[in-house]
Amino acid sequence: MSRESRRLASVQTPVIPVISRWIAETPGAISLGQGVVSYGPPPEALAAARRFGADPSDHRYGPVEGLPALVEALDLKLARENGIVVRPRSRVVVTAGSNLAFATALLAITDPGDEVILPAPYYFNHEMAVVIAGARPVSVPTTQEYQLDLDAIARAITPRTRAVVTVSPNNPTGAVYPEADLRAVNALCRVRGIFHMHDEAYEYFIHGATPHFSPGSIDDASPHTISLFSLSKAYGMASWRIGYVVIPESLWHAVNKVQDTLLICATAVAQEAALAAVKVGASYPRAHLPRLTRMRASMVDALRAPGLPCDVPEATGAFYLFVRVHSEMDSLALVEHLIREHGVAVVPGSAFGAPAGCYLRVSYGALDPDTAVEGIGRLTRGLRALPGSQ
Ligand SMILES: Cc1ncc(COP(=O)(O)O)c(C=O)c1O
Repeated sequence: MSRESRRLASVQTPVIPVISRWIAETPGAISLGQGVVSYGPPPEALAAARRFGADPSDHRYGPVEGLPALVEALDLKLARENGIVVRPRSRVVVTAGSNLAFATALLAITDPGDEVILPAPYYFNHEMAVVIAGARPVSVPTTQEYQLDLDAIARAITPRTRAVVTVSPNNPTGAVYPEADLRAVNALCRVRGIFHMHDEAYEYFIHGATPHFSPGSIDDASPHTISLFSLSKAYGMASWRIGYVVIPESLWHAVNKVQDTLLICATAVAQEAALAAVKVGASYPRAHLPRLTRMRASMVDALRAPGLPCDVPEATGAFYLFVRVHSEMDSLALVEHLIREHGVAVVPGSAFGAPAGCYLRVSYGALDPDTAVEGIGRLTRGLRALPGSQ
């Protein structure tokens, strides 16, 4: 007898493998779907990985919270770049990617049946992690421009709410939240006695006038703020699986229990590579930014061309556009159609809990400029040819 748990049965099926299969079945298809960058790690990180293994201690379990040298380097980075003073009220925990950091923190703060507020569209793995933890995702709409609706968030808080989750720059929308809004959410969480979980995986990917802001830097934020970071995008290290989280000191015992059970510690060779990358620092991701900013501009221009049946709200962060298509079609069906008939892949809005309507996430991080131009050309031709577009 085998049957999956009821808890897992209600978790949405990951959409990326489905899309990858359709791409594999369509020779020559271009993917505007992947949430990754086109570049790899800095050479210093690769050199650190090559040096790894000479010391016998390299092959033993390490500290649950991460290699001391990496934790120290991250403390410094957080103070210098994010204005987050980690010690003594908080601490950094290194994990196997920021997704695991989120799930670990969530297990540390929720009981089954608790509620977690997710402004929608949300990052699908956040919603999935909430369900896996046995908690209830409470989706709250954002504005037409995908900005936070502070009143809607406040109204959604109940006695069962344990956290509000924000992601800025945002996946899937590319929206960047202004400092004032993040301060307001953080203050709301403090006053209502709940956590503010803030995901900063795209902290370096800012293309417009709204700067990046870390709510963990607010004076009285540390007791209720959980800040999540990743090396996957910034340093082109998605496969190395290194992320980190700043948690209030009061959560350390709980987080320690979860991480010790699920992971013990992040892979040591990846932590050494991450340490070398963090030492290279922000100049590395920033050197790649102008190319992405130019790519974003040409994508937005192409999708805003007259006569195309879609809207493209302003997106000045990350490397995503969240396009509203004027079509009655189901977004997953539209994605399959675009791959099979037009050779271009995007991700359906339904996976991100998008509001009613047909939405597509377009990603421009992974492509060289020529392929991106060809990909966006295919997408616009596919949208123009849509049956029943209005
Ligand atoms: C908002 C957000 N957080 C976290 C992640 C995953 O990061 P990691 O690779 O560190 O698990 C992603 C990946 O797409 C993301 O978009």
